[in-house]
Amino acid sequence: MIDHRIPTIQPTEQAPHRAIRSFIRREGRLTVAQTRAINELFPPMALAGMGTALDLSAVFGRTAPLTLEIGFGNGESLLTMAAAAPEQDFIGIEVHRPGVGHLLLGIERLGLTNIRIVADDAVPFLQQRLNPHSLDRLLLYFPDPWHKSRHHKRRIVQTEFADLVADRLKPRGLWHLATDWAPYAEHMRAVLDAHPAFKPEHRDIGEAARPNWRPETKFERRGIRLNHAVFDLLYRRTAR
Ligand SMILES: C[S@@+](CC[C@H](N)C(=O)[O-])C[C@H]1O[C@@H](n2cnc3c(N)ncnc32)[C@H](O)[C@@H]1O
Repeated sequence: MIDHRIPTIQPTEQAPHRAIRSFIRREGRLTVAQTRAINELFPPMALAGMGTALDLSAVFGRTAPLTLEIGFGNGESLLTMAAAAPEQDFIGIEVHRPGVGHLLLGIERLGLTNIRIVADDAVPFLQQRLNPHSLDRLLLYFPDPWHKSRHHKRRIVQTEFADLVADRLKPRGLWHLATDWAPYAEHMRAVLDAHPAFKPEHRDIGEAARPNWRPETKFERRGIRLNHAVFDLLYRRTAR
């Protein structure tokens, strides 16, 4: 019998101590179906969060445009985008195991072959496992806003992180950010408008102007119920 309380995804071992993380590992309870998905479906599509740089054409068995989504939550938006673009490849990163299980069940239901999953911290993955100029798009939808000022240092969008994203994106690659927290949108704009490698693609897109190719997310629906405005920010990597 499967005990669904037993953790079956271990974070990558020997992770060097990183003082500030953009997440708290909330374990949450896995359903029986999610546990089965993690045990049976995860291994062939799992990518370790740390190690040497990946050979992406070997990972996917082809060369195709590549999108990375950081913090996919329950994975519904990633699933919708990957199902709509079978000619493209997708990597999703999420530390919350029930979300990983939920996505796996969706992948199984739709029979998708163009998604790989990292159940670990996105930052070392970007640093270690991706070569420069690997990504066509980086998606960061509703990252944890870390409301209190003493926690702002935990926000994933910082100049140093933007440097890393700029390096891993291809020239003219796209970074799409969305948030329902106006002060975080302001912070994102301040960081990225000042960054020499990024040009705003939709400076005015702002509130409630979601591009039709971005599915609504679970966290976004929560924000809308709270009457939050939703900001979509699109930045293009310079051609270098
Ligand atoms: C507020 S939730 C939004 C989830 C989803 N994008 C949505 O809109 O419904 C942010 C998610 O990002 C994940 N996350 C935060 N920092 C991360 C990191 N460094 N690596 C991987 N996942 C991270 C959290 O576990 C959390 O599930």
